[in-house]
Order: sequence, then structure tokens, then C-alpha cells
Amino acid sequence: MKSLYSKFVIITLLMMFCSSMIAFVIANIHYQAILKPYNDEKNTDVALNVASFLQNNPDINMTAYFHNLAETGYQVYIVSEKDEVQTFGAPFRNHEIRDDIKEQVLNGKIYHGIANFPHSIFIVGFFANELKNSIGVPLQWNGEQYALFMRPNIKFLFNEFRIFLSWLLLLMIIFSVIMVIISTKFLVTPIAKLTDATKSLAKGNFAVEIDYTRKDEIGNLTRNFYDMAKKLGQLDSMRKEFISNISHDIQSPLANIEGYTSLLEKDTLTNEQKEQYIQIIKGETKRLSNLTKQLLLLASLDQQEDLLNKRHYSLTTQLKDLIRQYYWILEEKEIMLTFSLPPSHINGDRVLLEAVWDNLLNNAIKYNKIGGTIDIKIEQSEASMKVIFQDTGVGMTKEELEHIFDRFYRADTSRTRSVEGTGLGLAIVHSIVQMHGGTISVNSVKGEGTTFIIELPVDD
Ligand SMILES: Nc1ncnc2c1ncn2[C@@H]1O[C@H](COP(=O)(O)OP(=O)(O)OP(=O)(O)O)[C@@H](O)[C@H]1O
Ligand SMILES: [Mg+2]
Repeated sequence: MKSLYSKFVIITLLMMFCSSMIAFVIANIHYQAILKPYNDEKNTDVALNVASFLQNNPDINMTAYFHNLAETGYQVYIVSEKDEVQTFGAPFRNHEIRDDIKEQVLNGKIYHGIANFPHSIFIVGFFANELKNSIGVPLQWNGEQYALFMRPNIKFLFNEFRIFLSWLLLLMIIFSVIMVIISTKFLVTPIAKLTDATKSLAKGNFAVEIDYTRKDEIGNLTRNFYDMAKKLGQLDSMRKEFISNISHDIQSPLANIEGYTSLLEKDTLTNEQKEQYIQIIKGETKRLSNLTKQLLLLASLDQQEDLLNKRHYSLTTQLKDLIRQYYWILEEKEIMLTFSLPPSHINGDRVLLEAVWDNLLNNAIKYNKIGGTIDIKIEQSEASMKVIFQDTGVGMTKEELEHIFDRFYRADTSRTRSVEGTGLGLAIVHSIVQMHGGTISVNSVKGEGTTFIIELPVDD
């Protein structure tokens, strides 16, 4: 009895057996309490009728009459005063009866054997083919005294019906057992499949194939499991990608630093070459330092989602100060920056939001063209505040747009290779905006420009 399947089948069959036993006992109690006295009374009437008919018709042939009666479905046992016995119809399986009973019936008393037949839980007296289970009435015929015992011949009356009932019962049992076996399989198979799927998930195979279309509890469980496996799979591939990206981004500057430091050891280098190599090493060290700073920021954002240091402050001042920091680079790249910043205050984490605007402006400059433009706007409504960064830069395709918030993603690799960056900026922007309960949306046309719209709630 190990598998759920066999447990289910055995328990159902046991339940079927127990319920038929209980039904039998209840039917038997019903027979004993209600049907038995009624049956006795009915048969007493018949026996009395027979006795009075014979008494009133002394001319008829008693033997022929009883033969006839037996053929209509009665078992008859007659005892005379001289203890001579005549039987008609099917013989009683047990024809023992106490002598004093015979005596009493001969003396005119009625014997209620059916009503007084002993009862037991598992024996239905109705079917007991015994002389004790009969009705005895006194019979007077041609001056002679007899005791007439009779009972209906159950076998005769119920023979076909009994066969019919037996078939009905047998077929019912066979079909129920077959159906229990089939339906149990139907119930248990999905659980077995789910178990296999959990095993394969445990081995690291996240692409579980499982049917989750059922609409019941097992279907719900399977669907939830499927969703969980999918999410775990996504997390796993994100983790792998993250590790491989990180390793690559740390490895390449380290390799450069190592390569250029060994070059510096050569004696034949000119001062100019030395200066050039040192600049490269400095650049790579800065890149590594930026990367670790960004990673630390991301990790702290992941861990401390609820620990925002919110304050009311002037967003306009923050954005203007930021623009001022970028004047020299804007000039160098010949980018024209316009802005429309009406006085606006916001309730947010100043340091984190500074990182958001810095990343967006930095991107708008980095991915712009010589002579391009950038426009920064604040649009305020009752419930929210929009900060819009619009540039006439290189733009992005639809496919690229789908990934820009992924960690380490950098679109258009041929171009981005020449532009400094780790691909973590927008992932950080996204996290910070989400932590503030805001949204970020992007519109971009390849070759024409990009617009980032940050919408933050003005809650309190
Ligand atoms: N304004 C923009 N115009 C065109 N492409 C952009 C713009 N902003 C972002 N992108 C694209 O999205 C990618 C991801 O941007 P993100 O800011 O996350 O990384 P990054 O700028 O490359 O590096 P980091 O900001 O970490 O130094 C960029 O590499 C770039 O290809
Ligand atoms: Mg960036």
C-alpha cells in the first residue's frame, strides 16, 4: 500500500464494502421493526382464509386443494391429531417445531412464527426456509382437527427477481470497481507528473514541461509550480548572466592594467609613451572604481528597499545644479541644452534621485551627436510630477529598448565600445524610480533621438 494510487483504490473499495454492510444492517432493522409484523399479519389472514374455506366446503378434496395451493407458491405442513404429517409444495429446509406448539394450534390457537422468528443483525428472517418461520392455524375438516402451518415459498416467488437483483448487484460492483480504478488514475497521474517535475527542477532543469490546464486544485497547484519554475529559471539565467558580465567587466580592465604595467617596465620607452600608458592605466582603474561603486549602489538598493531617506526639497535647484556641472562637456561636444524648470518641490531621497538625473543627463550627452540638442522639462500635475529628458541623439530600436533596464545591457555594441559605461546606469535609475513609487517610460527612434519620462507621485 505504498503508492497514493493503490491507497486510494483500496480505501474506496473498503468504503464501498463498509457502506453496503451498513445499508444491509439498516434494511434488516427496517424489516424486523416494520415489515416483519406486517408480513406476519398478511400471512395469518391468508392461512385463516384457507382454513375457513375448507371448513365451509367439506366436500372438496383436501389433498387436491393443498396441491393447488402449493403450486401458487406456498409451503404447507399439516399435522393431524394422530400426529400424521402431510406436506405440500417445496419442503422446509428445517421442519423442526416444538410439540407443544403443534398441540396449541390443534387446540385452536394461532401460531405467529414469522413475527416471533428470532432476529439477528446479519440474518434476514424473511428468507429463512424453516417451519418455525411459518403461520400455524387450526383447521377443522369433516370432523377432524388439524394444525395447518404455511408460509409463502420465497424461492418460488422471488426466483427470477433474485437472479435479476444478483446480476444488478454484480454488475454494479464490477462497474464501480472499474470506474474507481480509472478515476483514481485520472486523479493521481497529474500528482505523479508534478513529482517528476519537482525532481527535474531540483536537478536544475527549470524548463519543466507540465500540463497546467486543469481547473481544479491540482491544476492550481501545477500552475503555481509552473510559474515558480519559470521565475526560478529567469532568476537563474539572470544570475548566470550577471556573473559572466561582471567577470568580463572586471577581467578586461585588469588585463589592460596588467599589460600596460609590464610595458612600463621596459627601459626603451619614451616619456610620451610612458605618459600614454599611465593615462590608460588611470582610465582603467577609474573604470573599475566606477563599476564597483555602481555595483555597491545596486546591491544596497536591492537590500534596502524600504530604507528611503525621504525629504522635501527643490527639484528645480537640484536639476539646475546638475546642468551646471555638465556645462564644459556640453560645450566640448557642441550640444545645445534647453530647459523648462518651473519651481517644483518633491518628497524623495535627494542622493538617490540625484543619481537618477545624473544617469539620464549623462546618457543624453554620451549617446548624442555633435551639434545635437537636449531638452529637460518638469511638468507638474495634481497627483504626479513628470521629469522629461529629451535628446536628438542616436536613438534605439524596439529590440534594444526592451533591454535597456537590464543590468549590464549596452545597446549597439560597436558604438558603445567607444563610449565609457558599464550598462548599470539605467538599471539603477529603474530601481530608484520604483522605490519612490514612480514609473519610467521611454520613446525612441533609431537615428533621431530618445525621450525618457520619469513620473513620480506627489503623495505627501
Ligand atoms: N539617451 C539615450 N540615447 C540612446 N541610447 C541610450 C540612451 N540612454 C541609454 N541608451 C542605451 O542604453 C544602454 C544602457 O544604458 P545605461 O545607462 O544603463 O548604461 P551605460 O550608459 O552604457 O553605462 P553606465 O550608465 O552604467 O555608465 C546604453 O548602453 C545605450 O546603448
Ligand atoms: Mg548610463
